[in-house]
Amino acid sequence: MHLMQSPPGPETKVDDCQYLYFCGTGYLGLHGHADLIQASIEATRAYGLGTATSRSGYGNAPPIIEVEELAARFWDSEAAYYFASGYLGNHVVLSVLAKPGSVFLLDENSHYSVVDACRCFDLPTYQFAHLEAEALRELLKDRLRPGQVPIVLSDGVFASSGAIAPVKEYLDVLEDIEGAMLCLDDCHAFGVLGERGCGTFEHHGIPQRGINELPPNQDIAGSPRLFAVGTLSKAFGGYGGIIAGTNTFIESARSSSHYYSGASAPPIPVAAASAMALKLVANTPNLVAGVKQNALRLKQGLNDLGLEIELTPVPIVSLELGDSQNMRRIQHGLAEEGILIDYKSEYAGLGARGALRIAVFATHTEEMIKKLTEAFGRHL
Ligand SMILES: Cc1ncc(COP(=O)(O)O)c(C=O)c1O
Repeated sequence: MHLMQSPPGPETKVDDCQYLYFCGTGYLGLHGHADLIQASIEATRAYGLGTATSRSGYGNAPPIIEVEELAARFWDSEAAYYFASGYLGNHVVLSVLAKPGSVFLLDENSHYSVVDACRCFDLPTYQFAHLEAEALRELLKDRLRPGQVPIVLSDGVFASSGAIAPVKEYLDVLEDIEGAMLCLDDCHAFGVLGERGCGTFEHHGIPQRGINELPPNQDIAGSPRLFAVGTLSKAFGGYGGIIAGTNTFIESARSSSHYYSGASAPPIPVAAASAMALKLVANTPNLVAGVKQNALRLKQGLNDLGLEIELTPVPIVSLELGDSQNMRRIQHGLAEEGILIDYKSEYAGLGARGALRIAVFATHTEEMIKKLTEAFGRHL
């Protein structure tokens, strides 16, 4: 087991050594940001660590409410719900949407949290081939019975591969199906994709209006209904699950079971840090633009080594290079040069050999990225 002894950032102390760090999910480089830390210290002094009661009672401390107000503004929505973890997000959404007659259709590589959420409902659940809209179409033809309503679930951005869900293709497939819904787990896209960092729908040019709506917008009746949920624990450098939508949708989301737990909201220090992160990201467009620029720099640098990596704005690169032994060799070789990347032998969507995973942050310098790609070239 490794020990992280500093905030995760472009340079991170792990196992008593300082590394150039290209792992994890701190895409905007905010986890150790002085303003976030200061906000959390001040809130801890003012309000303590937690409310020790659920949000259905007195457990609504000001930083928690502030996160919800700022998130509603960030995602251009009427309201937002802030809850204990991103992992719970799919369960929160399905608690609102799933009804008798619903059918779940999942991308086969969906994150554990999507799979687990579906398991909580006693409803028909099917998987379709990863990213394959045509496979979804065939599955719907085979399985959907008259009167049933499909709820399609997928990661917006896949954690291990960095692939982006082909949202437009899914919408074409769902276009003529009454009441069809598309739900994205956007944990790796919030704060990253789209011009403002609103996520996968923004990346695909789909306006925020119409996302997480209940009842459905009459103006767009007949179109598939869109839902997205994410986290403040990754790009935003804070902690906790987040969903923004209409007042009615958010009120329904609050009535999911989590609201009645003493841990219904994240602890106050991280709520305050998350509120600060929302302000920072909204007011510093360079962060969201910067992570995309660095994603392209990294991918271009690796392509220059002869690797074939699609130039998307996702700050994740996944590489299957030979067998697991070879990938571990590359990982260890880089570590000996003071550079950390991940090798994952197992994760949702990975093949039997596993894969090397490189994450780049808005706060990596051009020089740091060059160091990584040059070293990578030496160990290929
Ligand atoms: C796709 C996806 N969904 C949900 C989660 C859980 O989010 P959180 O870490 O905020 O609980 C993760 C991360 O681990 C993830 O990769």
